Amino acid sequence: MKLKNKISSISPCNQRFISSLLALISFTCLLYSFRFILNSPCVLINNSHNHNGNDPGRHVPVIEIRDVARPNMTLDNRTTLDHIVFGIAASSKFWPGRKEYVKTWWRPGRMRGVVWLDGPVKNTTAENTLLPPMRFSGNTSSFEYRNRKGHRSAIRISRIISETFRSTNATDGVRWFVMGDDDTVFVPDNLLRVLRRYNHEGFWYIGSNSESHVQNMEFSYNMAYGGGGFAVSYGLAKAVERMQDACIRRYPGLYGSDDRIQACMAELGVPLTRDLGFHQFDIYGNAFGLLAAHPVTPLVSLHHLDLIEPIFPNMTRVPALRQLWVPQGYDSAALMQQSICYDPSRSWTVSVSWGYAVQLFRGIHPPREMELPGRTFLDWYKKSDNKGFSFNTRHVTRHACYKPYVYFLSDVQRKSGNDTTVSQYVRHWEPDQPCKWKMADPSRVERVVVHKKPDPNMWDKAPRRNCCRVVRTNAKNTLEVNVGECGEDEIIAARVTVSLTETGT
Ligand SMILES: *[C@@H]1O[C@H](CO)[C@@H](O)[C@H](O)[C@H]1NC(C)=O
Ligand SMILES: *[C@@H]1O[C@H](CO)[C@@H](O)[C@H](O)[C@H]1NC(C)=O
Ligand SMILES: *[C@@H]1O[C@H](CO)[C@@H](O)[C@H](O)[C@H]1NC(C)=O
Ligand SMILES: *[C@@H]1O[C@H](CO)[C@@H](O)[C@H](O)[C@H]1NC(C)=O
Ligand SMILES: *[C@@H]1O[C@H](CO)[C@@H](O)[C@H](O)[C@H]1NC(C)=O
Ligand SMILES: *[C@@H]1O[C@H](CO)[C@@H](O)[C@H](O)[C@H]1NC(C)=O
Ligand SMILES: *[C@@H]1O[C@H](CO)[C@@H](O)[C@H](O)[C@H]1NC(C)=O
Repeated sequence: MKLKNKISSISPCNQRFISSLLALISFTCLLYSFRFILNSPCVLINNSHNHNGNDPGRHVPVIEIRDVARPNMTLDNRTTLDHIVFGIAASSKFWPGRKEYVKTWWRPGRMRGVVWLDGPVKNTTAENTLLPPMRFSGNTSSFEYRNRKGHRSAIRISRIISETFRSTNATDGVRWFVMGDDDTVFVPDNLLRVLRRYNHEGFWYIGSNSESHVQNMEFSYNMAYGGGGFAVSYGLAKAVERMQDACIRRYPGLYGSDDRIQACMAELGVPLTRDLGFHQFDIYGNAFGLLAAHPVTPLVSLHHLDLIEPIFPNMTRVPALRQLWVPQGYDSAALMQQSICYDPSRSWTVSVSWGYAVQLFRGIHPPREMELPGRTFLDWYKKSDNKGFSFNTRHVTRHACYKPYVYFLSDVQRKSGNDTTVSQYVRHWEPDQPCKWKMADPSRVERVVVHKKPDPNMWDKAPRRNCCRVVRTNAKNTLEVNVGECGEDEIIAARVTVSLTETGT
């Protein structure tokens, strides 16, 4: 969520003061809740539901989201895009820029959802057909907001889950509500791959944490960060809608929208189901390290696209996203999945992030190092040490010999015969620094060609990264690689010659 930008501007020397302030605030809240409990011992769902009836927000007219026909249950009962309703948090101020992000992933006429705004925006009929329908959020002025660092729009954004629920018709086959910001992009097919694992009739709250350990400490490791997107099953959304307004009133001191949602989930006793494919991206700078070493799980979302550099070099942000959506059309399950292999004759390590980039390293680096994201990016407090993150990272050394050659996606096609994709990656030019190691020099490789058979069902199986193999080629200045399921007894190993992690911090 964008509100947290504010926190990032706290200088380190103020952090202790802020922490004391936070402690004080929490203490005050504790006192407050205690008093509240004494005054009203009875906090039952039914009460709160009745209470809801008087909320101004309840007067929002019921809107039917009928952009997509009701799915044909008898044909294939698996969850499809038709079963998902998106609730997108937007503000009129940023919408003119942010709507371009939404256009990159929204499939008009094939998805259902609503963009919730806080005020009117310029719009044309022609452009509206490319975007989800836009609605105004209900009036929240009757809700108290007492956090000094945040903004009360958090209440409006938090209520999107209830407002979206109310805007659907129970008979319309909705199974999931998926929340995101206007600067969140989704990979819809992978979202489906994740949601299909859960029964929408149960209570499921699915999303992910911040990349920032400190953010997770200040907010919660139990919270789905809103900008990374999160999914709420129909069963749970129904329960949330009944209690959310009253619940929000019990936490006027919270900062944002997603901590308010988590507070209500905690009242319902529903834990966060973490899925590492949702990316809040509380980072700055170049996200390359993260995108080149994605966890072994489908890529579901990316966020904070205004804060990070464009994901492809030499491109502006929106075209860079469109470039990524091309391979998605060929093999969404494999998008950004990392495969690691070796060219033993030349002592090179190859790391493929399918549909995005290939890295070529001098030396044989073990997979336990290659699977760690290299710290090409800064944390939420603009530092680049390994202490700020909620996962392991790898130091990126400046040593000329350790610097990978990086190739970015330039083209992807289906091979004749139609069962294989051929994706091409071209070298990202950077000044060559001399390396004195006595081994083959990758600088002559200008292009990497990757052959891969799409496997749309790969995530129905136990997670395992694909294997890759360097193949012989006569093409000049080209490295050719096959990516696919690992064979029996195939492992990622060669005699280790160098270690990346032993060189740095
Ligand atoms: C739904 O699927 C059934 C079985 O294939 C088919 O007969 C029917 O026409 C379909 N209905 C719609 C509305 O597509
Ligand atoms: C399809 O799924 C719905 C909801 O889970 C269930 O009620 C229905 O019985 C299923 N229908 C078939 C044909 O499996
Ligand atoms: C779209 O434009 C119309 C006409 O200017 C305006 O009345 C309406 O409120 C706008 N819609 C939104 C969601 O801002
Ligand atoms: C919201 O409600 C308050 C009080 O009911 C009212 O004063 C205010 O004008 C309303 N705001 C909007 C935007 O309708
Ligand atoms: C929901 O859909 C059903 C069937 O299409 C319709 O009869 C009912 O009136 C709708 N309910 C609302 C609240 O629109
Ligand atoms: C190739 O396969 C895709 C889906 O796998 C299909 O949509 C497309 O029509 C096929 N093209 C040809 C020429 O067979
Ligand atoms: C990016 O631009 C630089 C300078 O204009 C150029 O040398 C380089 O080849 C470009 N890189 C890619 C990947 O297009």
